[in-house]
Amino acid sequence: MKIVVAGTGYVGLVTGVCLSEVGHSVTCVDVDENKIKTLNEGKSPIFEPDLEELMKKNKEKLTFTLDSKKAYEEADVIFVGVGTPEKKDGSANLKYVYEVAKEIAENVKKDVIVVIKSTVPIGTNKKIEKYLNSNLKNKVRIEVVSNPEFLSQGTAVRDTLHAQRIVIGVNSKFAEKVMKEVYDGLGQPYVITDRESAEMIKYASNDFLALKISYMNEIANLCEIVGANIQDVAKGMGMDTRIGNKFLNAGIGYGGSCFPKDTKALSWLANFNDYELKTIKAAIEVNSNQKLKLIKKARKYYDDFEGLNIAVLGLTFKPNTDDLREAPSLYNIPILLDEGANIKAYDPVGEKNFKKIYPKEIIYCNNVEETLKNADICFIFTEWDEIKNIELGRYNELMKTPIVLDGRNCYDLNEVKKVKMVYESIGRKTINNINK
Ligand code: UDX
Repeated sequence: MKIVVAGTGYVGLVTGVCLSEVGHSVTCVDVDENKIKTLNEGKSPIFEPDLEELMKKNKEKLTFTLDSKKAYEEADVIFVGVGTPEKKDGSANLKYVYEVAKEIAENVKKDVIVVIKSTVPIGTNKKIEKYLNSNLKNKVRIEVVSNPEFLSQGTAVRDTLHAQRIVIGVNSKFAEKVMKEVYDGLGQPYVITDRESAEMIKYASNDFLALKISYMNEIANLCEIVGANIQDVAKGMGMDTRIGNKFLNAGIGYGGSCFPKDTKALSWLANFNDYELKTIKAAIEVNSNQKLKLIKKARKYYDDFEGLNIAVLGLTFKPNTDDLREAPSLYNIPILLDEGANIKAYDPVGEKNFKKIYPKEIIYCNNVEETLKNADICFIFTEWDEIKNIELGRYNELMKTPIVLDGRNCYDLNEVKKVKMVYESIGRKTINNINK
């Protein structure tokens, strides 16, 4: 079976590499020359643990090419893993999916299954199939299958090789059989359904997780007011298996390439169909307020940020990724810079991408300690191990005024209590030992 994957971003590349790991020959195509060059040098263009190792291990089974024409001509199965970014009105932009579809229609020469991995609005798979059939250059049988992915950045390889479920939305027994040939090597449970339900499973899963986070963030905000501790609350809730103990961490809001985009896209789709998804709308609103929570806290200590030395720890939307999409840092840093703050920042891998946006406005440091030196206040935006593992006494020793605003609840309050510092986190009591 000849498998082609269109798009070498997070979804496409991880899918292609993992399918080679289960024994398939996979051709990954992209329009980006630089990416293909990097991949052909054995390097991954994205930071993703285990990916490069698997690329090396399976290099005989993997081809990276710009020549999509040839790849589509020979393909039995074509996975589409290109981006569906957010449009200004919140809907999903299907431009790249249709660009790939056009090329597929023009080039396929034998019967082929087209598998849509990209997150697309409900009804899109059917529309793509119609589009393909009306634009085919050669007389072949072509079918579209919905196969959403559930991989998280930072654990994408593990999430794919040990998926909790493989969702397949098909319109024929033949397509189901082909998909099982592709995936049987993984030995994971299947959910076989129609294409609309498969498309909805993806959105409903992501939006439910986003909702869970926004719910916990609201409870955390109330905990701060009434004097409860969100981590104990989450522990107590999570032991109920009906609730589950995952995705209960309060913080400064969810970011990344999926939750913000997918909540808005589903909400848009509902509106478009004259239905209001009230819960999702609330999750979006809570999240946008939550992202600025630390700025509000900071104003208790300083009226404005003019001339202040501010230490920023963590720039990426979560640890173990270099991705900045919808990261809280991108919402907070412009405000701090606008008010004239001097910012020093540290992120173990996000610096390179952040520099593309702020090449000169920020001083980038090599470690936590360098960042903290002489700071008036510190913001923690990402819970990297390097930040969680710092000895707490260093805040007091290195900062001019040890005020630490932790958006990710990195430290145990009992440990913080032993140190002279002001420490505010999310949904927990403020510790102020500075004058003791
Ligand atoms: C997510 C989904 O988990 C994945 O299944 C889907 O395919 C793509 O979107 P990802 O965006 O990589 O994956 O990261 P995830 O680990 O889910 O975190 C998303 C955001 O939620 C991050 O900003 C994270 O900090 C935040 N989060 C997560 C919380 O604030 N609290 C939590 O308890 C969990």
